[in-house]
Amino acid sequence: MNKISGFSKLSKVEKIEWLKSQVASDDQKFLNCIESYWHPDSGKQKLFDEFSENTVSNFIFPYGLAPNFSINDKIYTIPLVIEESSVVAAASKSAKFWLDRGGFKTRVLSTNKVGHIHFIWKGDKKKLFNFFNLNKSALLFSVKDLVSNMEKRGGGVVDLVLKDKTSELDNYFQVEGKFETCDAMGANFINSVLEVMAGRLQELALEYESFSDSEKDLEVVMSILSNYTPECVVSAYVECPVSELGDFPNGMNAEMFAKRFERAVKIAKVDISRAVTHNKGIFNGIDAVVVATGNDFRAIEACGHAYAARDGQYRGLSSCTLDDGIFRFELTLPMALGTVGGLTSLHPMAKTTLEILGQPDAKELMQIVAVVGLAQNFGALRSLTTTGIQQGHMKMHLLNILNQLEASDEQIAYAKDYFTDKTVTFSNVRDLVNSTKHLQ
Ligand code: MEV
Repeated sequence: MNKISGFSKLSKVEKIEWLKSQVASDDQKFLNCIESYWHPDSGKQKLFDEFSENTVSNFIFPYGLAPNFSINDKIYTIPLVIEESSVVAAASKSAKFWLDRGGFKTRVLSTNKVGHIHFIWKGDKKKLFNFFNLNKSALLFSVKDLVSNMEKRGGGVVDLVLKDKTSELDNYFQVEGKFETCDAMGANFINSVLEVMAGRLQELALEYESFSDSEKDLEVVMSILSNYTPECVVSAYVECPVSELGDFPNGMNAEMFAKRFERAVKIAKVDISRAVTHNKGIFNGIDAVVVATGNDFRAIEACGHAYAARDGQYRGLSSCTLDDGIFRFELTLPMALGTVGGLTSLHPMAKTTLEILGQPDAKELMQIVAVVGLAQNFGALRSLTTTGIQQGHMKMHLLNILNQLEASDEQIAYAKDYFTDKTVTFSNVRDLVNSTKHLQ
């Protein structure tokens, strides 16, 4: 590939032509794929193009449904955008399993989000704290127009505090803002408020008579929301008597299963290698719903992983107890989501997801998403501690392998039947496809 300047100014077709000019001719057929995934409705395609920058096509992901989720006694069918079929299957299976055992229960513990004005200041710290306390209301006043709509909806700036961070970095302080953003994820709101306040903070420092000339120089490094939201937390759990867990494969009874399951959860609490994979399983479910609703899954992931390491060691996010014969499995984690604004209100499929979920507000969506994370974790651990993961995983993967080997519909039907009671491996499937060429 060669360097190019002014790429963003080229039209979509020009961008693709340039790409083609850069690629060896044998690879051209892959580039034709780019155009074949344009939406046939040019209006819809324009909408998608405008979601991002330098767009040349669409990257399609499957949109699946996991039915039978009972959450606080309400039944949901939950859309999942993910390419891993076993995730949708495991979510559906866990939902059905807990449907008959009281369903999922959830609670939103808090909804505050935070953002910071990060600044550098040298001088007598006591003077800085006096300055901040005297000017806190002036800072709040500076954003009154920006916050008035949010206040009408019941949100706004909840608090402002000055934080001394000089023990971590020389002369480093923060103004930490706490925000309630109601049904909006609130990133734009928080960032706009912080930027205006940061400007006002510098003006006020210049005007403050008790500061020396050098103390009047308050250097704002940046003003930005934090995606770490440990005060925007949701909790979901399932529980039932151990005896009601049923029987499991490989001759395992309910009690044996419960004990092994609990151990698996404890291993993820103490061992980082297992914790990362354990939490990856949780985020398999969480990300899939978050993407389906047009929310920012990178923010949710970053926050969840930081929370998993909040005591200094990265740990599994879920917990399991077996007290007094009751199996209880729980997931508590921070999650900042929106149901208005951003892509949630623009992407036609995100709007459809919210419709399918019954138009939840942000708090209800937090609960739904946490439940899918818990269900996913339950499904993964149930397989891991009983049959092992590969049996189900490879069955799910069978169709992908068959498609990769360009099997015909007849071969696919035959293979699905053939592998009902046999182990799926790539070489087994390839052998079967080779030996059933007459069905092509
Ligand atoms: C695979 O995508 C996720 C699992 O590895 C999660 C886990 O190990 O708990 C099955």
